[in-house]
Amino acid sequence: MTTPRFIRPAALALFVAAIAVVGFGLPGGEAAAAATGKTLDNLNAAFNGESNAHARYLAFATKAGEEGYGEVASLFRAAARAEEIHAANHATVIKKLGGVPKADIQAPDVKSTKENLEAAIKGESYERDTMYPEFLVQARKEGLRDAIETFNFAKSAEAEHATLYTAALANLGALKGSQAKPYFVCTVCGNTTPQMNFEKCPVCFNGKDKYIQVS
Ligand SMILES: [Fe+2]
Ligand SMILES: [Fe+2]
Repeated sequence: MTTPRFIRPAALALFVAAIAVVGFGLPGGEAAAAATGKTLDNLNAAFNGESNAHARYLAFATKAGEEGYGEVASLFRAAARAEEIHAANHATVIKKLGGVPKADIQAPDVKSTKENLEAAIKGESYERDTMYPEFLVQARKEGLRDAIETFNFAKSAEAEHATLYTAALANLGALKGSQAKPYFVCTVCGNTTPQMNFEKCPVCFNGKDKYIQVS
């Protein structure tokens, strides 16, 4: 036969390509698609959660003001702004991954300020200890750096919110009759603090000029 010698390497290449598609391509591709879908779902769940937390904290702030806890009202407003920043950050990543951010805003369940603080601590603690850590594990598996960053920013801020709410709850009696108080919120990561005793944001390392005051 006069079969050219290049046929064999070409056939071999075809064979390898076929193996890649059948043996690795399809299952690998499906796994990657499923994994990406999972973080996209997680981002949407987080977007929904942050959007609802924003609405809930604004309602809690109104209630705290009505009950004479001006300082607690400020804290709720500052945290609400932070949740709004988290929601916007999540939305940016959702869009980058080809998704559409969707939130189903529920009417906030407003009770007394003491109960509202307790509910807020519960929500923040869940996000800090369970939700964001699980979402981070998945995003790291997929190597989705933008998702890792937005989840990390939110997780850090929720930890700070839980600390601030816990302190407010412990001190609630003394806060009756208090006036509005300034808090500072990082517009990049949502970090929330009563004192700007740093030059760079301790969470995202941007300059402190990125902070806004909320009271
Ligand atoms: Fe929060
Ligand atoms: Fe920051």
